[in-house]
Amino acid sequence: MSIFLGIDVGTSSTKTLAVHESGQILASAEAPYPLYHPRPLWSEQDPEDWWKGTVKTVRSVIRKAKLKAADVKAIGLSGQMHGSVFLDKKDRVVRKALLWNDQRTASECAEIEQRAGGRRALIRLVANPALTGFTAPKVLWLRNHEPRNFDKTRKVLLPKDEIRRRMIGDYATDVSDASGTLLLDVKKRRWSIPLLSKLELDPELLPTCYESEEITGSLTRAAAQTLGLTTACLVVGGAGDCAANGVGTGVVKSGILSTSIGTSGVMFVHSDKVEIDPEGRLHTFCHAVRGKWHMMGVSLTAGGSLQWFMDTLCAELSRKKTKIDPYEILTREATTIAAGSEGLFFLPYLAGERTPHADPDARGALVGLTLKHTRGHIARAIMEGVTYALRDSLAIIREMSVPVRQIRVSGGGSKSALWRQMQADIFGRQVVTINAEQGPAYGVALLAAVGAGAYKNIEEACAASIHITSQTPTQRAAKNKYERAFPMYQQLYHSLKGDFKQISQLES
Ligand code: XUL
Repeated sequence: MSIFLGIDVGTSSTKTLAVHESGQILASAEAPYPLYHPRPLWSEQDPEDWWKGTVKTVRSVIRKAKLKAADVKAIGLSGQMHGSVFLDKKDRVVRKALLWNDQRTASECAEIEQRAGGRRALIRLVANPALTGFTAPKVLWLRNHEPRNFDKTRKVLLPKDEIRRRMIGDYATDVSDASGTLLLDVKKRRWSIPLLSKLELDPELLPTCYESEEITGSLTRAAAQTLGLTTACLVVGGAGDCAANGVGTGVVKSGILSTSIGTSGVMFVHSDKVEIDPEGRLHTFCHAVRGKWHMMGVSLTAGGSLQWFMDTLCAELSRKKTKIDPYEILTREATTIAAGSEGLFFLPYLAGERTPHADPDARGALVGLTLKHTRGHIARAIMEGVTYALRDSLAIIREMSVPVRQIRVSGGGSKSALWRQMQADIFGRQVVTINAEQGPAYGVALLAAVGAGAYKNIEEACAASIHITSQTPTQRAAKNKYERAFPMYQQLYHSLKGDFKQISQLES
């Protein structure tokens, strides 16, 4: 029997799947861990928690699926992108890792642009502008603010690659995750030595870069023992969680676009060639498909906005002694409200925003409140605001004439019928769901299967295992309503932008 493990080192938890070579999921497990916010807009995690979560979930799926150690032929790793793990010469973690949603690096982004010879020159080198979430600004932040820690640092790894190091005893990454460091020549799929030299960063700081289905090594004796596997188990390149989700939802050919609403919201489209938004609003990264690319827009607080509302303002719902999921209660209330939330708008910029504004000072806002509005209106306005934020990315994709023939919805936002319908109506076209619901972990399990030779390539693996399960057509009245409301949503950010900046200055 050939089994492949897909491991996703996420922001809230590690999720592991055991997948049979036929594509069938045999078992899954999840281990949550904390997120630290030592200051407003800072976001950190302890890599040791990721490793503990990995060991726990790998052992759990082996037990649940009643596998023998030798059944597991290969592992695919996926994870939150951009996070920086700083290691010293003995591979000890120098400090907690800075994460993708950390916003402390605005001045390092300016420094990178200036050293690169301007924003356009930077985009020419690495296909993307400097954004606070990316890895390179975090490395410069360490050099500027914690020079002693920087001097100790010998390697900078992405979250999933720190887990790989503990598995195979080597430093490696894959092209899709490496794209989000801002240090990869995305077109040539290799580290950008010209940019590294402009930033005065030693290329030795970085791991070896592989294609996503390439084998990066096999488990060390110690790792095999800890995980309950064998030293014959291979570890493939894997992918950053967005590209992994792209593979896991079958977005591996031109014309297919996916949206994923988890903590963050991602709009992801496959591209056969490198397409670059000259304004740098969309990211252009290598895809986990050999020789292909993808573009994406990222909204930092998507599902995270609804979670914030639930945790801070609806706590009584989760305390209720009913068996109903508190999100189900909120969704039911939101479903009774008409499209447009009777004039209530929500800007989901609770942690600043990436696409399209690239503005760490942006803030969340509820605009248009009246005495008539209820908790259900606010819940609906939040879901609408998050979906409008994704539509901002779709608008840029359309502007760039990238073909979109099908929209696949995934993540938490695809599980609620209301949010699926809202996506169809706000995007103005039918959306579909697919059978694979475990996005990133499933995508890298398929990459592991390809690396181990079970499939010829990732396109073949996806065709064998992924199919459409439902279609949600648009509803004309709601679609028209949203078409009229969307420009208002867009205008609100521009009206408030200056105020957001002043608010952030007041705080600091
Ligand atoms: C992608 C991004 C987020 C994280 C979340 O650019 O920052 O989607 O990868 O896990």
